[in-house]
Amino acid sequence: MIRPAAEVHDPLIDWRREFPTTEATLHFISHSLGAMPRGVDDALARYALVWKTRGIRAWEEEWFELPTRIGDVLAGILGADPGTVSMCENVTTAQAVVLSAFDFRAPRNRVVCTAEDFPSALYLYEGLARRGAEIVRVPARSGRAIDPADVIAAIDERTAVVAVSHVLFRSSQILDVRPIFERARSLGAITLLDAYQAVGTVPVDVNALAVDFLTGGSVKWLCGGPGAAYLYARPGIAGTLRPAFTGWMAHEDPFAFDSGAMRWDKGPRRFWTGTPGIPAFMAARCGFDIIAEIGVPAIRAKSLRQTRRMISLADEYGYGVVSPREDSLRGGTVCLDVVNAGRVCAALLASDVLLDYRPGVGLRLAPHFYTRDDEVDEVMRRVRAEVERQARS
Ligand SMILES: Cc1ncc(COP(=O)(O)O)c(C=O)c1O
Repeated sequence: MIRPAAEVHDPLIDWRREFPTTEATLHFISHSLGAMPRGVDDALARYALVWKTRGIRAWEEEWFELPTRIGDVLAGILGADPGTVSMCENVTTAQAVVLSAFDFRAPRNRVVCTAEDFPSALYLYEGLARRGAEIVRVPARSGRAIDPADVIAAIDERTAVVAVSHVLFRSSQILDVRPIFERARSLGAITLLDAYQAVGTVPVDVNALAVDFLTGGSVKWLCGGPGAAYLYARPGIAGTLRPAFTGWMAHEDPFAFDSGAMRWDKGPRRFWTGTPGIPAFMAARCGFDIIAEIGVPAIRAKSLRQTRRMISLADEYGYGVVSPREDSLRGGTVCLDVVNAGRVCAALLASDVLLDYRPGVGLRLAPHFYTRDDEVDEVMRRVRAEVERQARS
């Protein structure tokens, strides 16, 4: 019988006060939708007030600069320089903008990705096939694991772009991208990292990775809500790109309304398209500021401690653990292979346990920096009770 968790000092638990909704549910779904910071109420009220009272002047007074300022908060989280992160609506758009800057002309026309990348990215890459790209999808091995050696072997002189995920969304496997990117660089390929499932729970440093482009969004670990995503572009390359998917807000002087040839902005607006979604950015900023202040290494330490505990309890209950057991390979989520997982998930959601279910990996549960240790034990107890109930019904 596993012993109760030893009392440990939790230096992050005071941040829970900023997330009052965590008192209403067992929130184990930050890999899908992070809890709402209480500051969002004020941020959105302020947005409405500024719109109401300042009208069109709001653009000049704060809205136009807001995405760039928020991008700089994210740059801090990514170890990037200010001015290197562009905001947009979602990761799909961010990737589409960047990929629109490349010609996929043979012989260098390959996009190397993996079968475990997020479907939205895979659909986008398939679309590139109509523009001459050849898509090389590296398959998973057993347990939906991607072996970095397989990705490395798929990269050659025909590779234009290596586009992979840092943490695989289904299984929570951390892909060791360093050797993959080294290989890409040595052969002259561009690297694009979908770090959505990493940033905010697994430390990511764009300079250590020497990645060309990185995308991520607000909805999950960054607790920013929907509608805000971002693109980091390495300074040495950003200014050389001319995205075909572009718009007036990417122009160096948008308010000149120049109908001549496009002249891209030299800063982060280069990767914008049309009018930015200001309310979503106002809402997202609260979560970004909190994560930046805490620092991802502290979040990671707590996440590892709590996910380890969940894995020990899963072992005791006899559940298969589909997410990696090794700390160095596991992101912030634990995936449990239980019988009737879909039904178990639906029943738990109905009783205020927030988690999800993905075919192939089972139940996905994620603690975050606002999770109390006793909630870890409680959620596992609730899962076990529901699995047993389903088995009897
Ligand atoms: C790894 C990963 N990439 C991309 C997405 C989707 O991005 P978006 O909806 O912002 O395009 C998700 C989840 O929603 C994800 O987990």
